[in-house]
Amino acid sequence: MDAVRSRWSSAPDVSRLTCRPVDGPLDRATHHRIRHEVFVVEQGLFAVDDHDVHDNDAATIHVLGLDDGCPAGTVRLYPLGAGVWKGDRLAVLPDHRRSSLGAPLVRFAVATAGALGGSRMVAQIQTANVRFFQALGWTRVGDPADYLGVLHQQMSIALR
Ligand SMILES: CC(C)(COP(=O)(O)OP(=O)(O)OC[C@H]1O[C@@H](n2cnc3c(N)ncnc32)[C@H](O)[C@@H]1OP(=O)(O)O)[C@@H](O)C(=O)NCCC(=O)NCCS
Repeated sequence: MDAVRSRWSSAPDVSRLTCRPVDGPLDRATHHRIRHEVFVVEQGLFAVDDHDVHDNDAATIHVLGLDDGCPAGTVRLYPLGAGVWKGDRLAVLPDHRRSSLGAPLVRFAVATAGALGGSRMVAQIQTANVRFFQALGWTRVGDPADYLGVLHQQMSIALR
């Protein structure tokens, strides 16, 4: 019983977590600052900046994750055609990791693509995060391959 109680009391309070598309230039700058901190400064995946053509595409949806109102995470999604959507740039600031924001960001991207008529979402996942995505219902597609100098696994989830 004590074990149950202690697990319950340590369960994260997810009511403080929200995910939403960026709204205006300030939000957009915050989204990019978080990505920069994780993918450029922390991981060194990109030398200077992680912007690419999808950031300039009006079809791309940039998402912010907030922890108690504080911007702490990102994800980005865009259509590839034929009902397929791609999700990427999933990032949670180190100080907010394991506070359960990553999972809602992934679920938000999946729900958004589904609501917009998508049938499948795909993503290139760093192999360290494959179990995290599997727990969210994603499955592996093919074998891992090098992307930006890091092994990535293509994964996919049905949207309907
Ligand atoms: C991957 C990342 C977004 C996960 O965010 P997070 O906020 O730490 O994840 P959550 O707290 O929502 O985790 C949800 C669950 O998955 C587990 N989990 C998180 N990362 C995991 C991993 N890499 N492997 C296995 N499980 C993991 C958590 O323990 C938690 O489990 P629980 O619900 O049983 O407690 C975050 O670690 C991150 O930003 N990493 C650096 C950037 C990166 O790798 N981005 C993804 C590129 S593919």
